[in-house]
Amino acid sequence: MTIKILAFSGSSRRGSLNQQLLEVAAAGARAVGADVTMLRLADLQLPLYDGDLEVADGLPPGALRLQRLLASHHALLIATPEHNGGPTALLKNALDWASRPAAQARPGSGAFAHLSAAMVSASPGLLAGIRSQVSLQIVLNKLGVAIVPASFALPAAHQAFDERGALKDAGADKAVRAVGSALVLAAGRDAPANS
Ligand SMILES: Cc1cc2nc3c(=O)[nH]c(=O)nc-3n(C[C@H](O)[C@H](O)[C@H](O)COP(=O)(O)O)c2cc1C
Repeated sequence: MTIKILAFSGSSRRGSLNQQLLEVAAAGARAVGADVTMLRLADLQLPLYDGDLEVADGLPPGALRLQRLLASHHALLIATPEHNGGPTALLKNALDWASRPAAQARPGSGAFAHLSAAMVSASPGLLAGIRSQVSLQIVLNKLGVAIVPASFALPAAHQAFDERGALKDAGADKAVRAVGSALVLAAGRDAPANS
């Protein structure tokens, strides 16, 4: 069975350091046979979550699309930039919309409960966005996502990539790819019960 990974970053900025790191982790997942769907969260065009909007109009098309993507994948590979010690509003907003119950694909469970996830983060700072990972871990736990122990946080990320988007440091490159491959292996162990 081919493991399907949904990959997204909390930054849709052109030249995003987290998107670059995500591409490396995704390559690690593909190297062990996974199918990786790369999603740009900004393309979902989600409004800021508003309970009145939800009551009036239901879930926006982008939220329904994200729920369908979650339902059709085994695992999440997430690059989470750090904004003031937590994940970005773009990322948290997408998770909040997708957690709403209107279109749960699996009766009796949330949109996330069948998923495994692995996280990476990149920051120009020396803490490498690690607080964003810790904070996001709490959110994903709440949603029922099984978080794999493998993760990577890249400090001084503005100096870490070459002009082709490759990590200059071979050890870091290996460790980031290992996050992607560890996620595929973990999802493969869980998949028979969850598919
Ligand atoms: C509003 C805001 C808050 C930020 N807070 C933090 C922070 O708490 N820790 C950190 O390491 N970097 C912080 N940064 C810097 C980001 O890590 C940096 O902009 C990074 O490049 C964003 O990720 P990206 O390159 O993937 O877009 C912040 C940036 C912004 C715009």
